[in-house]
Amino acid sequence: MLWLILSALLALASATTAINFPWEAAQLSLNETTNYPDIAFGDASGVNATYRGPKCKVGPWDDAVWPAVDEWAKFNRTLGGVLLKPVPPGAACYPGSPHYDAAKCSFLLSSAFGTRFYSDDPVTVLTEWPEGNTCTATWAPTGTCTQGGYPVYVVNATKVRHIQLAVNFARNRNLRLVIKNTGHDFGGRSTGAGALSIWTHYLKDFEFIPEHSIDGYEGRVARVSAGIEAWELYNYMDKYNMTMVVPGGDTVGAFGGWIAGGGHNSLSSSYGHGADQILAFQVVTADGKYRAVTPHQNADLFFAMLGGGGSTYGVLTSAIVKAYPPTPITNLPLSFQVGSASGFGVNSTEIFWEGVRVYQYFAPVVTDAGGTMYSYVSKSGPGSYSFRTTFEMPNMTPQQVQALVQPLYTKLNKLGIPVKNSLVSAETTTSFAPAARTGAGAAPGNNYFGSRLFPRACWDNETIYNPMFAAIRATVEAGYTFHGINHAVDYKKAGYPGNMNAISPTWRNALMHADIFDYSLAGGSIGGRGGPGAASSSFKAGHAELEKYMDMIRASTPTGGAYFNEGDVLEPNWQTTFFGANYPRLLKIKRARDPWGLFWAPTMPGSEAWVVVNPESEGGLPTQNGPLCQTGWDNNSLKHVVKRERARVVRRHL
Ligand SMILES: Cc1cc2nc3c(=O)[nH]c(=O)nc-3n(C[C@H](O)[C@H](O)[C@H](O)COP(=O)(O)OP(=O)(O)OC[C@H]3O[C@@H](n4cnc5c(N)ncnc54)[C@H](O)[C@@H]3O)c2cc1C
Ligand SMILES: *[C@@H]1O[C@H](CO)[C@@H](O)[C@H](O)[C@H]1NC(C)=O
Ligand SMILES: *[C@@H]1O[C@H](CO)[C@@H](O)[C@H](O)[C@H]1NC(C)=O
Ligand SMILES: *[C@@H]1O[C@H](CO)[C@@H](O)[C@H](O)[C@H]1NC(C)=O
Ligand SMILES: *[C@@H]1O[C@H](CO)[C@@H](O)[C@H](O)[C@H]1NC(C)=O
Ligand SMILES: *[C@@H]1O[C@H](CO)[C@@H](O)[C@H](O)[C@H]1NC(C)=O
Ligand SMILES: *[C@@H]1O[C@H](CO)[C@@H](O)[C@H](O)[C@H]1NC(C)=O
Ligand SMILES: *[C@@H]1O[C@H](CO)[C@@H](O)[C@H](O)[C@H]1NC(C)=O
Ligand SMILES: *[C@@H]1O[C@H](CO)[C@@H](O)[C@H](O)[C@H]1NC(C)=O
Repeated sequence: MLWLILSALLALASATTAINFPWEAAQLSLNETTNYPDIAFGDASGVNATYRGPKCKVGPWDDAVWPAVDEWAKFNRTLGGVLLKPVPPGAACYPGSPHYDAAKCSFLLSSAFGTRFYSDDPVTVLTEWPEGNTCTATWAPTGTCTQGGYPVYVVNATKVRHIQLAVNFARNRNLRLVIKNTGHDFGGRSTGAGALSIWTHYLKDFEFIPEHSIDGYEGRVARVSAGIEAWELYNYMDKYNMTMVVPGGDTVGAFGGWIAGGGHNSLSSSYGHGADQILAFQVVTADGKYRAVTPHQNADLFFAMLGGGGSTYGVLTSAIVKAYPPTPITNLPLSFQVGSASGFGVNSTEIFWEGVRVYQYFAPVVTDAGGTMYSYVSKSGPGSYSFRTTFEMPNMTPQQVQALVQPLYTKLNKLGIPVKNSLVSAETTTSFAPAARTGAGAAPGNNYFGSRLFPRACWDNETIYNPMFAAIRATVEAGYTFHGINHAVDYKKAGYPGNMNAISPTWRNALMHADIFDYSLAGGSIGGRGGPGAASSSFKAGHAELEKYMDMIRASTPTGGAYFNEGDVLEPNWQTTFFGANYPRLLKIKRARDPWGLFWAPTMPGSEAWVVVNPESEGGLPTQNGPLCQTGWDNNSLKHVVKRERARVVRRHL
């Protein structure tokens, strides 16, 4: 009965405003703003194109202009009480803090990573160093806990009006605004010192529609809210006997940063990237207005927000996305190593590297069959290397996969690498019915890495391929772990609406995206947790060393680029490397839609207009722990601003 009423309400609301869910009907009305200028809507067309505004975003260190306690209270009342003022969970570990709680600290360190605790925390980001390591959970705290690079206030959004109010309040009061969904971003794009944060985590609604027609698409779709995570979608796939394209990590948000960046996955080579799945979406833009977006309506936003970066053009609230018939994936693992005791060992490092070279050259066979190769090559000591990969083949039986990869196994065996193309290790999973998926387990870590998109042209012939492979080999020999993901997603694979989103032409022409991990830089490991103050004090030197190898890789892939969702926030020439030929158009849209510079995250379009003045100089790490100030002032006044802001930053102990 409730369902019937909701459906009827939804049909009514949809008819007029094109919303997907009832909670989107709760919007901010103009009349509410008349006597409350802090929440007034903006008008982008009225803003001078050379708008500068104040030099820095206001933070709690700006006593005179930071909203007073009663102003926050009024804002909270208008929000219906969903305003939070969270402290970092790690505060529980600091004996000097009023939040000290030995039992909670012990829970954080020994069992929180097996629960949903961190996923449900309003401020935690899962790569910790961008926060500045100011309040790390630790058994042995040295120093104090401060709010650091975490936001000060959080709007726990469950209605569109919550988002509109936060956007308007931040713009009118010149506050720094961040958007946090799951906090998985590797570069600190969902956190910021002194900020007001919009938390989209509890936007969880989902509706499956077996048959739907929208613009150039007909078939299965789902209506989805912005806060849904991959594991939740697996459960819906199971329930409705269908498949959707989702992130690899169970707790990654499917409709926040992942689609905004493009979003790769094990179905990419068959069904396209994450952004390619989106047919329409709803968004709150920087002026506070709520808009419907399709390839034909607000088409600039459709383009920009699907591949052009999160936290830049608006806050996506819901979307209509493609779904597919249930799609089984056969996974076949392959591994060999040299200089170590276990597994399929080979007799010399030269044979090992020749094996990896032959493997990687085989990529087009796999991607053209709709599959992915997901590999790691790493050094475990002098003369000791290991290689492992998985062939992930949608819609293929184990026997078909075995036949497809047999030519590679024949070559490896001829080299003297005794690997077996055995059906025993092949495993077929229907991607809609995996083992228990509860979304537990996300916990802070401290990864740092560079990345590269390798153009397909490098596989044209061995004359071009070999120098590229030599650069990869040199990088692993230097101690970095090379994580290569081979996929191929041209416009044909992407399907409708294809080239109407901002996934860069560079990525469309790529055959591999790879992460190059440096475990020493931020002190962590893949999926591991960083220790206290894990930021390396010699970050600058370590980063310069990584760049030496990245430069070799770049030189051997001159028409390549990089994927910013898994990349280096210090990537040189990031505008071109991350966004390719799309950058000028993305920048133009950013300036037109957000002339106030309200939305900001590092290396996103237009972000070069602002800089985080990092007062703590955390070993040179590009953290979010400092005031956000405009660049482009003459150097004398910038110096003045930096000096002033440094003096003002809050170091208040929590
Ligand atoms: C364990 C793990 C596994 C991963 N697996 C994959 C993978 O398989 N494929 C892949 O492509 N990437 C993968 N990634 C990278 C992932 O794409 C990025 O971390 C991505 O930014 C996560 O988006 P999120 O919304 O979950 O996280 P958040 O950190 O909350 O948000 C990321 C960015 O998007 C912005 N944003 C969030 N929600 C919205 C919204 N509603 N509107 C506008 N902007 C928004 C945020 O402000 C921020 O800038 C993985 C990362 C991790 C840590
Ligand atoms: C403002 O307008 C909305 C709809 O237009 C109406 O529902 C609401 O009662 C009005 N609020 C006030 C305070 O006038
Ligand atoms: C915009 O601002 C600039 C700099 O303050 C000023 O010179 C210019 O006249 C303004 N333009 C408009 C259209 O107001
Ligand atoms: C906002 O209001 C709610 C409800 O009164 C309250 O529980 C919450 O603590 C308030 N938030 C802040 C930051 O004061
Ligand atoms: C945020 O809102 C959701 C939904 O109302 C609620 O379940 C959750 O407890 C809130 N989180 C916090 C930290 O208040
Ligand atoms: C699921 O869908 C497939 C293909 O569309 C069909 O063959 C199968 O019978 C369905 N299974 C169930 C349990 O409905
Ligand atoms: C390694 O070398 C030894 C001795 O030369 C030989 O017996 C063995 O078969 C070789 N192993 C492989 C896998 O080639
Ligand atoms: C390899 O490809 C390049 C670029 O297309 C071409 O110039 C070169 O002649 C090719 N080399 C061989 C050996 O085919
Ligand atoms: C400011 O300093 C930078 C680096 O020192 C320099 O490249 C730039 O030209 C200077 N700008 C002005 C306006 O002086």
